[in-house]
Amino acid sequence: MAIVCVDDYHPLARDRVAAHNWDYIEGGSGAELTLDANRKAFDAARLRPRMLVDVSACSPAVELFGAELASPIAVAPTAYHRMAHPDGERATARGADAAGALYVVSMFAGRTLEEVAAETASPLWMQLYWLRDREKLAGLAVRAEQAGYRALVLTVDAPQLGLRRRDLRNGFVLDPDIEPANLGPADSALQHHRQDGRSALGQHAAQSFDASITWADLAWLRRLTTLPLLVKGVLTAEDARLAVEHGVDGIVVSNHGGRQLDGAVPALVALPEVVAAVEGRIPVLVDGSVRSGRDVFVALALGARAVLVGRPVLWALAVSGDEGVEAVLTMMTRELTHVMALAGRPRVADIDRSAIV
Ligand SMILES: Cc1cc2nc3c(=O)[nH]c(=O)nc-3n(C[C@H](O)[C@H](O)[C@H](O)COP(=O)(O)O)c2cc1C
Repeated sequence: MAIVCVDDYHPLARDRVAAHNWDYIEGGSGAELTLDANRKAFDAARLRPRMLVDVSACSPAVELFGAELASPIAVAPTAYHRMAHPDGERATARGADAAGALYVVSMFAGRTLEEVAAETASPLWMQLYWLRDREKLAGLAVRAEQAGYRALVLTVDAPQLGLRRRDLRNGFVLDPDIEPANLGPADSALQHHRQDGRSALGQHAAQSFDASITWADLAWLRRLTTLPLLVKGVLTAEDARLAVEHGVDGIVVSNHGGRQLDGAVPALVALPEVVAAVEGRIPVLVDGSVRSGRDVFVALALGARAVLVGRPVLWALAVSGDEGVEAVLTMMTRELTHVMALAGRPRVADIDRSAIV
């Protein structure tokens, strides 16, 4: 049967990915309340279409840190793409490049950040968790700049890893042939170390993430490179204001796809208060259960400059490698352009708060 929407990849991918890795990819934390709520928030949004507008040429293009992007749909940082495909992040980079899309590479990539960069001419950003080992963290930031990455994305919602019950039940560990290519042998050993009732990734985070950092520490990270610094995982106006005060260049409103604090507010619900607090000073992105061009339209109407897509990229990667990644990204962009036409909003700038109820 033809694949006509992003969700069509889901059952096909489940058949191809090993059960423990599928649980890792799909799962949320706790009772998966936030995972569920992320999706429901998008489903509940209703559009206010305008008629008899010239929509003969609709453009989803946006500008972000000086780069012209053909689409506001980018690849979210997700760990270890080799769970989905043997080529891992290299295939993702090729697929994103074919779609002309921005790709945010996870600190937990199974390929080095230089290997990933060699596969694409489209923009890359590097995601980081704050490691206790500051030399290691600094090394990654500097390497990312040298390899041509265009921004750093510090994930701030994970002082510890969320309690992902599926992984705890599975005693989740990385498969033997998957390595944290940008970290060291000690990190790898921890992420392969099996313990009943625990996730090896959770144990690794407990030992290697610095849970003591605060807003004041960001200045240290900023000074290491000339790259823009975004924080990913902000969900409140208070933190959005602090981010601006501390010179952060962009915010990703996110609850980590429902994988960190269970019961946290859906990202889409948090988006308007963050956008209002930022007052246009820096771009605001959002992620969490974006599954169609309609979802992207809703996020843009609530003030997002762009969206990140996590799990669907992994589904498509599992089903057909780089071509799947390209297909998912171009399909969502086509859908967005279609919604823009039917909603009478031919340019992204026309998609304002009046576009939804
Ligand atoms: C399998 C998986 C691994 C992830 N790994 C990371 C990561 O390494 N760093 C990070 O900042 N976020 C990570 N995330 C969160 C994503 O960046 C993003 O916030 C989330 O997946 C968006 O929701 P969606 O998957 O519903 O689109 C991960 C998410 C998934 C599903």
